[in-house]
Amino acid sequence: MIMNQLLEEIRRSVPVLFSDTPGHLGGLYAPARYILSLGGKRLRPVLCLLAADMLGTATESRADAMNAALALEVFHNFTLVHDDIMDNASERRAQPTVHTRWDTNTAILSGDVMLIEAYTLLCKINPERLLPALDLFNRMARIVCEGQQLDMDYASREMISGEQYLDMISAKTAALIGASLALGALIAGASAETQAHIDRFGTGIGMAFQIQDDLLDCFGNKAETGKRTGGDIIENKKTLLPILAHDSASAEDRAALLGLYSASESSSMRPERKIAEVLDLFRKYEVEQKAIAIRDQYIDGAYEHLEAIDIAPPYREVLATLGRSMQERKG
Ligand code: IPE
Ligand code: IPE
Ligand code: MG
Ligand code: MG
Ligand code: MG
Repeated sequence: MIMNQLLEEIRRSVPVLFSDTPGHLGGLYAPARYILSLGGKRLRPVLCLLAADMLGTATESRADAMNAALALEVFHNFTLVHDDIMDNASERRAQPTVHTRWDTNTAILSGDVMLIEAYTLLCKINPERLLPALDLFNRMARIVCEGQQLDMDYASREMISGEQYLDMISAKTAALIGASLALGALIAGASAETQAHIDRFGTGIGMAFQIQDDLLDCFGNKAETGKRTGGDIIENKKTLLPILAHDSASAEDRAALLGLYSASESSSMRPERKIAEVLDLFRKYEVEQKAIAIRDQYIDGAYEHLEAIDIAPPYREVLATLGRSMQERKG
């Protein structure tokens, strides 16, 4: 329900993407329209609206919260369009990715215009709150870029440490989820302390969210994720799973794993065979269970920050349920 409403709000608030564009500009706007219309969970705008609602009551800040929420969702979709180019991903939300359906140059420029429209939306908020909101948004956006760069750099490293992985996902994914709540809190006029706690709650559930995403990439079901299963293995992504396998494997299995994760050694393998061999090693060393335990520690840590925020019990329950949904989600 809220999903359809949000798409309607995006349509209304970003007319340049959705109105009839002259044919010669269809190549710029149609891909943006396409990805935004494919849906998704709309997690970030929901978090922003929830935070604003639970921490403030002023009616005039409702419109600001909606504009900030839409800015976050358009920004998120921009990152996905560019991420799919970087990850050579052919499917998202059960449909061809933008660069597959059109081409890479189109996806770059459509992504750029989405980023610009995200800022146009954000700039609609009350001028009194705009500077701190821009500051928060800019810091988050830079950190997401840093995380994405690390993600790419690590794909061509032999292996990385668990700590490097956690720092990388904190930047590429958790920062945006934390900022979504913090932006809602800022718009509601919450204290700096409350903003910091809700940001840290969001960062904690964001860590769990990415660990779950990495689990689903290996063990999930394409019918539910809408993404190719095993894509991270094909791209030699250093997610928690190969790191945990590497750290507990015998010398022989460790060498086999490193060979499978090395572009020069595995490039001639059939993708399905590479995925099957990697998954065999993951099963042998029970990395799924170990990753689940780490994911759940982040949820527990996040709840401590929730406890520190002064909000009405029903809201606390909604946020706690959202945290739990990070553990249970299948898509
Ligand atoms: C995908 O985000 C990118 C990650 C951070 C894992 P979502 O899983 O929230 O994607 P949609 O918006 O629901 O499709
Ligand atoms: C995406 O991480 C993080 C960002 C888009 C910034 P992934 O590359 O794991 O996301 P999916 O699996 O493609 O959605
Ligand atoms: Mg990706
Ligand atoms: Mg990626
Ligand atoms: Mg992924």
